[in-house]
Amino acid sequence: MTTQEINIQYQVYKSVDEMNPEDRELVAEAVNAMQGAYAPYSHFHVGAAVRMSNGQIVRGANQENAAFPSGLCAERTAMFAAGARYPDKDMLSIAVAGGVMGRLGSQPATPCGACRQVMAQYQAKSGKPMSVLMVASGQILKFEKVDDILPLIFNSI
Ligand code: THU
Repeated sequence: MTTQEINIQYQVYKSVDEMNPEDRELVAEAVNAMQGAYAPYSHFHVGAAVRMSNGQIVRGANQENAAFPSGLCAERTAMFAAGARYPDKDMLSIAVAGGVMGRLGSQPATPCGACRQVMAQYQAKSGKPMSVLMVASGQILKFEKVDDILPLIFNSI
């Protein structure tokens, strides 16, 4: 038996002013995308923005349903829209922002497991790392690749 360690590095930005222009733009798009949330049950508004390899940004927001499992998170709404709109392009980066009643939270919006798995799929499809930005009012976390938020990714088939 051996004990292994998984080491994950990520950046913490105190302000968008510290970020490169592309990331800064994507963060702003994710925050603006929160306005598209339809969350009459949780009142938790989430926005997501995906940067494509052709420079386009595709936005999404969470969409809830009276039959709860029929709703969808902001990240998957954005990624599925991006995949359908630009099937031949790569998803280079995704930013996520969220907060109660549409007010950006003080803690970063951290994607759920299902959304991480979908990120992993599109990252594998492109063969390039997809960075993940998690946005809060006073800080932004940046992970360089999906592996950093989903260690031991399932990709066996
Ligand atoms: N939600 C997202 O949109 N993204 C996440 O990563 C976590 C949760 C949404 C789903 C639901 O509409 C609301 O937030 C509360 O869970």
